Amino acid sequence: MKIALIGNGAIAKLVAQFCSVRADIYNVVAALGLPADMTSVGTHPIVRSLPELLAFKPDLVVECAGHSAVKAYGAAVLNAGINLIVVSTGSLADQALWDEIKAAAEKSTAQLKLPAGALPGVDSLAAGKLAGIDRVELKSSKPPKAWAGTPAEKTHDLGKITAPTVIFSGSAREAALAFPKNANVAATAALAGIGFEKTRVTLIADPGVTQNVHRLEADGAFGSLRLEIFANPSPDNPKTSHMAALSIMRLLEHEAAAIVI
Ligand SMILES: NC(=O)c1ccc[n+]([C@@H]2O[C@H](COP(=O)([O-])OP(=O)(O)OC[C@H]3O[C@@H](n4cnc5c(N)ncnc54)[C@H](O)[C@@H]3O)[C@@H](O)[C@H]2O)c1
Repeated sequence: MKIALIGNGAIAKLVAQFCSVRADIYNVVAALGLPADMTSVGTHPIVRSLPELLAFKPDLVVECAGHSAVKAYGAAVLNAGINLIVVSTGSLADQALWDEIKAAAEKSTAQLKLPAGALPGVDSLAAGKLAGIDRVELKSSKPPKAWAGTPAEKTHDLGKITAPTVIFSGSAREAALAFPKNANVAATAALAGIGFEKTRVTLIADPGVTQNVHRLEADGAFGSLRLEIFANPSPDNPKTSHMAALSIMRLLEHEAAAIVI
């Protein structure tokens, strides 16, 4: 299976390593990167434009770059009839982008595939939705320094936080748009469950945690769900949970497996 990456960072590196170990099944043919991406995280070449990437005739494109990449390339990949994995799910909180990508996926033979990332219970949310879900609430805690470079810097002195502190409370849409690198999990919960408006999100700076902790609650006709994950950071990017790359690998396995779970 020919795989093309968009992005050349922490997630791309782990996905490329996974594919090289299973070289009998997966072949990363190229990655689309920014001008700053001089050295490939794998053995594949880096290209600078989508036409150059698609010239490798990939069976599947994996976006592991950021919101801007989904906006720039997402619909075009689907319009070319190529399956697309989007890990920057928070980008889909942008209603205009969602409409564009959804229309492209519906019109083409290709599928948009969304990995669970670090969110636990995606299967339960998606299945429970079929019977009706009344409430979904996500509480995400990260160490104070993980919120550097976000709007939390303007409202809080992150270096002086000594107790768990709520830095944001609102809808999944507001969270995903305001915290593009830190609230992809909120967007995934919204997409799997009851949508961006109804999914409630609390973001917490907690000096007592060293991992990314996500607590998910949902109630509906299926019953009630209470889950929490203590996700280790990625080896090369502390803002990114290792689970983000692992969940892409799981989707890749689905592409090739005889038995899917
Ligand atoms: N779904 C989830 O749970 C989840 C979890 C963590 C991260 N993410 C998303 O994954 C993305 C990648 O994470 P990472 O840890 O690998 O980040 P990273 O910063 O290590 O790497 C990002 C790479 O993408 C490249 N890039 C950025 N914008 C681009 C563009 N417009 N076109 C081409 N290349 C571009 C960068 O140059 C870099 O090589 C994050 O930005 C975030 O949106 C999702």
